[in-house]
Amino acid sequence: MAPPFLSRQERFAVVDSTNDVVRGWLAEGTPEVCLAVADEQTAGRGRDGRSWTAPAGAALLLSLGFRPTWLAAEWVWRLAATVSLAMADAAEEVAGLPELSITLKWPNDLYAPAADAVPRKLAGVLGETDGLGGPDPRAVIGIGVNSDWPPGAFPPELAGTMTSLREASQGRPVDRARLLDTFLSRLEARIEALRDGRFDVAGWTERQLTSGHEVELDGPDGGRGAYRALGVDAHSGGLVVEDPTSAAGERILHVGEVRRVRLAHGAQVGV
Ligand code: BTN
Repeated sequence: MAPPFLSRQERFAVVDSTNDVVRGWLAEGTPEVCLAVADEQTAGRGRDGRSWTAPAGAALLLSLGFRPTWLAAEWVWRLAATVSLAMADAAEEVAGLPELSITLKWPNDLYAPAADAVPRKLAGVLGETDGLGGPDPRAVIGIGVNSDWPPGAFPPELAGTMTSLREASQGRPVDRARLLDTFLSRLEARIEALRDGRFDVAGWTERQLTSGHEVELDGPDGGRGAYRALGVDAHSGGLVVEDPTSAAGERILHVGEVRRVRLAHGAQVGV
């Protein structure tokens, strides 16, 4: 009999950060795949040192722990991409949204059309790793989905850039338990495929929001550049941008080279 997909799962009313909970479990020896879900976080983390907040019960906050001995270190980014794709599938299904209406903003933010039809950030993904390339690689993939924030309840600093599934589905309340169950069943199938060496390149590529658009990118040193985004590179996980100075006419930017991505004519949200 195949082992169950989840080796351990726990639900918390309040934790500091579900990523820290799962990181601790992996350090203690808990096998993959382990899952921590919280109603509220007191020290939720976003990418690039940002914080991640949501009122209690208004978001699906979870982290998954993997021991990716079965995945080349250079492809561990595919775990976060796979989590994003599974959540995009599940969110469309549970909120009754059209297929492919949820997009990905490179590298892994989920976007959904808000009430004004402009895509805004629905969810963010934070991947953290230890020991990649060694005998005991560990990866924690955390995702926070704005499931049930009522439209208009975002604090002013987030109101222009964020949306929720509830807003995207015209104010219908979202059943977080159903969203979680649907996500886990989509994820199980996708992780099984990944273990078998099949990453959903087509799905990951077709959901990309930036492809074909002008983007402004902030580098780690504070420098800023404007590019035309052409697509994504399924080998490295990088963003492919037009570059007339290179022989190929394009170049690949990697996650460590970019702190923030803005759609030049759209909402500004951090990656
Ligand atoms: C981002 O967009 O900057 C990434 C946000 C990731 C937030 C999730 S919520 C669950 C998990 N625990 C954390 O502390 N962060 C991630």
